[in-house]
Amino acid sequence: MSRPVSDAIVFFGATGDLAKKQIFPALEGLVRDEGVDAPIIGVAREGWSLDQLKARARESLSSHGGFDDKAFAKLTSLLRFVAGDYTDPSTYARLRQALGEAKRPLHYLAIPPSLFATVAEGLAKQSAGTEPRLVIEKPFGHSRESARQLDRILNRFFPEECIFRIDHYLGKEPVQNILYTRFANSMFEPIWNRTHIDSIQITMAENFGVRDRGKFYDETGAIRDVLQNHMLQVLANLTMDPPTGEECDAVREQKAALLKSVRPLDPAQVVRGQYADYQSVPGVKPNSTVETFVAARLFIDSWRWADVPIYVRAGKALSATAAEVMVYFKRPPRETFAEIAPPKSGHMRIRISPDVCIAEGLRLKLPGNALKGENVELVLTEQESAFKPPYQRLLHDAMLGVGDLFGRQDIVDAQWRIVEPVLDENSAPIPYARGSWGPDEANQLIGPDGPWHNPLPPTPRP
Ligand code: BG6
Repeated sequence: MSRPVSDAIVFFGATGDLAKKQIFPALEGLVRDEGVDAPIIGVAREGWSLDQLKARARESLSSHGGFDDKAFAKLTSLLRFVAGDYTDPSTYARLRQALGEAKRPLHYLAIPPSLFATVAEGLAKQSAGTEPRLVIEKPFGHSRESARQLDRILNRFFPEECIFRIDHYLGKEPVQNILYTRFANSMFEPIWNRTHIDSIQITMAENFGVRDRGKFYDETGAIRDVLQNHMLQVLANLTMDPPTGEECDAVREQKAALLKSVRPLDPAQVVRGQYADYQSVPGVKPNSTVETFVAARLFIDSWRWADVPIYVRAGKALSATAAEVMVYFKRPPRETFAEIAPPKSGHMRIRISPDVCIAEGLRLKLPGNALKGENVELVLTEQESAFKPPYQRLLHDAMLGVGDLFGRQDIVDAQWRIVEPVLDENSAPIPYARGSWGPDEANQLIGPDGPWHNPLPPTPRP
């Protein structure tokens, strides 16, 4: 079904951090690669001039996006700026004026979630006779209940098909490749279950701390920041059933079904940590009990996955920056070669970032008379980085009205349901040293299913 293309882009929070790091590079990409030639309007509370906004765009592209003279000139020719308070109706009236003839603007809210409802209402009141779309950034709410409340408010002003919930992990090429590789080949599906898979690990590690995001992070923590969304999306792509039928939403249907079958986290199977000098970061409360590291054991209550432990781990100030998945296969049912037998043998490794790799780990015979083997890895694909920044991909999809790579109300709800039992844990997290792999308790958690696979930093290429 072809849907109308958005004829303007409006981004709220134009002077903010997300705009600087992600949105300007995405906008440059939209102009350069997707031929976007529509008004692009930044909105912010700060009373900047348009020239100040252009200078910010230049700075952003120089440090985060690969400055491109031609695309920058085009981008700045399309750029407009509206300053104003988000609670003041005149801000929306001026925005309406700046939009001119545009009938189907895409509004991206790169602002604190507490302002989503105010802005959605302000926009709706100025949108008579137009078909606006709304893009919102995770976290969608702060808990299951607040996410539901947010949806009720947004749905008062925007129909569900006009709301696009961004989880930028879904715009990452290797995250899509998990689905593609699984379902474009027939060899994986027969072994992708409890009979053949021993355990799964998903690690999202960052070797930097919370930087200048102390205030945001101290209200969020690792569970809300990345486990509830990015990591559960990766888990869903790894474990969901194949999409069926011709429903345009077939992938999200299966994803929702899978996430609804994940058992809510058991606090006894979760390790929360906090890196050593976190409390000295500006914006962090004294004696903060917010976790900067989380490791958890999850189970999926389905025939396919019953009793297969799934370990997820995410943290700041760890030893490397990398996101990687390991799917471990069981050993053959009988030892033919009298080798020492750990319970697992062979794996599939999927590296999501910063570089991309899909590899199969197998055991092969070493040359010689003895029937002795070694572990080898067959690299199926390896790329230095994903080909397109996720925000560019996702904003373009939203402009086209294509929602497949966005969150959906029931999916977001299922994700909150999984983490809900551990959200309000306010015991002190376990301290860990910067540059480590988190508290030792994470090793105890994984126990005989371990050790944890610690992703390597990317190998420098010639
Ligand atoms: C964001 C989190 O959603 O994802 C950050 O808020 C995190 O804390 C970031 O650093 C990681 O994304 P990427 O694409 O850099 O791996």
